[in-house]
Amino acid sequence: MWKFVFIWCAILVVCCNGLLSYAFNEAVKNYLYQINVGPPDRYGQYGYSNKFNARKPTLQQYDFIIVGSGPAGCVLANRLSEQSRWKVLLLEAGEPETFLHKIPLFAAFFQSTASNWGYVAERNDGFCWGMDDQKCGFPRGKSLGGTSSINYMIYNRGNPRDFNRWVEAGNYGWSYEEVLPYFLKSEGANLRGKENSPYHNHTGPLSVEDVPYKSKLVRGFVKGSKQMGHKEIDYNGETQVGVSYAQANTFHGRRESAASAFIEPILHSRRNLNVVTSARVTKVLINPKTKTAYGVEYVKNKRKYQVFCEKEVILSAGSFNSPQLLMLSGIGIKEQLNRINVSIVQELPVGRNMYDHISHFGPTFTVNTTGQSLNANQIQIPQVKQFLNGHGIMTTIGGVEALNLIKTKNSKEPMDFPDIELIFVPGSVASDQGSGLRKGLRMTEALYEQVYKPLDGIDHWSVMVMLFHPKSKGYLELKDNNPFHWPRFYPNYFDDEDDVETILEGIKETIRIANSPAMQKLGTKIYDVPLPNCRDLIFGTDDYWRCSIRTLSCTLHHQVGTCKMGPVGDPTAVVDPELRVHGVNRLRVVDVSIVPNPTTSHTAATSYMIGEKASDMIKATWETHRS
Ligand SMILES: Cc1cc2nc3c(=O)[nH]c(=O)nc-3n(C[C@H](O)[C@H](O)[C@H](O)COP(=O)(O)OP(=O)(O)OC[C@H]3O[C@@H](n4cnc5c(N)ncnc54)[C@H](O)[C@@H]3O)c2cc1C
Ligand SMILES: *[C@@H]1O[C@H](CO)[C@@H](O)[C@H](O)[C@H]1NC(C)=O
Ligand SMILES: *[C@@H]1O[C@H](CO)[C@@H](O)[C@H](O)[C@H]1NC(C)=O
Ligand SMILES: *[C@@H]1O[C@H](CO)[C@@H](O)[C@H](O)[C@H]1NC(C)=O
Repeated sequence: MWKFVFIWCAILVVCCNGLLSYAFNEAVKNYLYQINVGPPDRYGQYGYSNKFNARKPTLQQYDFIIVGSGPAGCVLANRLSEQSRWKVLLLEAGEPETFLHKIPLFAAFFQSTASNWGYVAERNDGFCWGMDDQKCGFPRGKSLGGTSSINYMIYNRGNPRDFNRWVEAGNYGWSYEEVLPYFLKSEGANLRGKENSPYHNHTGPLSVEDVPYKSKLVRGFVKGSKQMGHKEIDYNGETQVGVSYAQANTFHGRRESAASAFIEPILHSRRNLNVVTSARVTKVLINPKTKTAYGVEYVKNKRKYQVFCEKEVILSAGSFNSPQLLMLSGIGIKEQLNRINVSIVQELPVGRNMYDHISHFGPTFTVNTTGQSLNANQIQIPQVKQFLNGHGIMTTIGGVEALNLIKTKNSKEPMDFPDIELIFVPGSVASDQGSGLRKGLRMTEALYEQVYKPLDGIDHWSVMVMLFHPKSKGYLELKDNNPFHWPRFYPNYFDDEDDVETILEGIKETIRIANSPAMQKLGTKIYDVPLPNCRDLIFGTDDYWRCSIRTLSCTLHHQVGTCKMGPVGDPTAVVDPELRVHGVNRLRVVDVSIVPNPTTSHTAATSYMIGEKASDMIKATWETHRS
């Protein structure tokens, strides 16, 4: 019993303060490890320990060095170390996950912890008006598991056209037909009604589940969507236009991260794999004459080290840090590198072409139910017990319950290619009393107090309206050559007015669904307290929503394209279709930064797929060599 009480207190602290201090995190981690709390995880281990931390690379030289342990990096570490004569080193700047990371409901809180790099985008007059200093947060995972340790766990692959267009641009090998087997290779699905679907594998290492908990409100939303003419679909199946409950990367209701799926199961058995956490890579070592990568420089415990490789350095540090490391190593735009005093090794457009899925937080609606919205105050001992047994409200993935992928009238694309996703949440930033989610968004206190605080304790729901194929794109660049300084991010959302108009169509469709019989039965009414800065406009008019879109702008964190893939001769490309950095030997980038155009999906599944496909390409390269 006292174990439950302890966890309950821990959870209370999280809910009340919103901010998990680093010390608290450590204390909980060590404590939980000591008492071996809860049922063991899927591999019969208690995986929340310091077991990686003390380690240093045991060798001076490896076959492969992988930088970053997100979805792509963890898959690579697993697949390359299948070859027992290859020695593989995985370097990760963050630390292993704790028990709290495993709780899907708390996803948003991790943006306030050391598991987030904590980046913030530059200010721009066109967006994020409702955020502190008009700057939006750019969270990114810093953990063994990468961003999959702090993300919302939605498992979503995309539309066949996404990949077929990559091929049309000269990226051989990436058609939907060719990448589907790599999605399937990872997947271990446990999805009701999809047991015989050719689009799902049931025995791969990455668990994909239905979310065990469903609110009354989401049932209304799915039913209401169907009443308004949307089909119910498997968005990872044959067609992508329609509504669906979320498919989640969880296992028995606990977060399934890249680390729990691909590293934990092999950590003790693969002696040829070294995993080192709290190791921050600062530079790729490249011979400037031969333009060949031969190792990396990294910092651990405030000391600088070098480690070398015989075959390849693979950057899987994500869409912000992979380009940062390339630039620090002399690969980038000449004028920029000159400006920051980095001597140039290879000129490439690194950091350009940053696409993202911008969204609008809302509209929000009130209902006349009670206890059906998310509210952190609902978490009591019974809910914790339910969670430990794999069900209950704490298994909900940060509140995301359903997705409705739609094609608006603004889109000139084919019928089966959605341009907007409606993300259903049974609450809002008020659901945790303005702690986790608001802080992650950087929403101003004044806006919260005036608009959202009155919703605390009242049942309500919101839709986040997300743009799949933005016309606007941004870039990132380095401030200076200090590897510990943040890059600067210029997302340029809504540079193209069409992006605002498409989101506006998504808002209108959400309101239409709110007027469906199923939603009306719940007493649904639009929440019409106006945003303070849009008050001069009449609530609900197109101009009001245009103002709202530029105020409640929030990213769904799908930044891609900063090390764009493209064939030789593509002036915008950084890596070739086999993910080798153009003009540099023995150096690849394997993560979502290579994605040339944003997919019609969230990005984690794509990153797992990229890791699987790259593993096979790398094996093909080196298995033919004698080694
Ligand atoms: C809050 C949030 C919610 C999200 N929700 C979803 C969702 O529900 N569904 C979905 O599909 N996608 C979601 N995403 C996006 C998705 O998680 C990412 O796109 C995906 O994890 C990217 O994988 P990656 O392998 O490219 O890199 P990452 O997962 O970002 O991993 C990169 C790793 O490299 C490490 N690293 C970086 N620099 C260095 C260095 N110098 N030295 C050593 N290590 C380094 C980082 O610490 C990190 O662990 C979300 C993202 C965020 C931030
Ligand atoms: C399903 O996963 C298993 C285990 O990883 C793998 O052997 C099999 O090839 C996968 N099936 C498909 C269709 O990819
Ligand atoms: C680049 O080097 C020059 C000369 O050493 C120095 O004056 C300048 O401040 C440096 N710039 C940066 C951004 O480090
Ligand atoms: C909620 O509103 C609906 C529609 O107006 C109504 O039918 C229902 O009885 C109301 N429920 C409650 C609990 O007030």
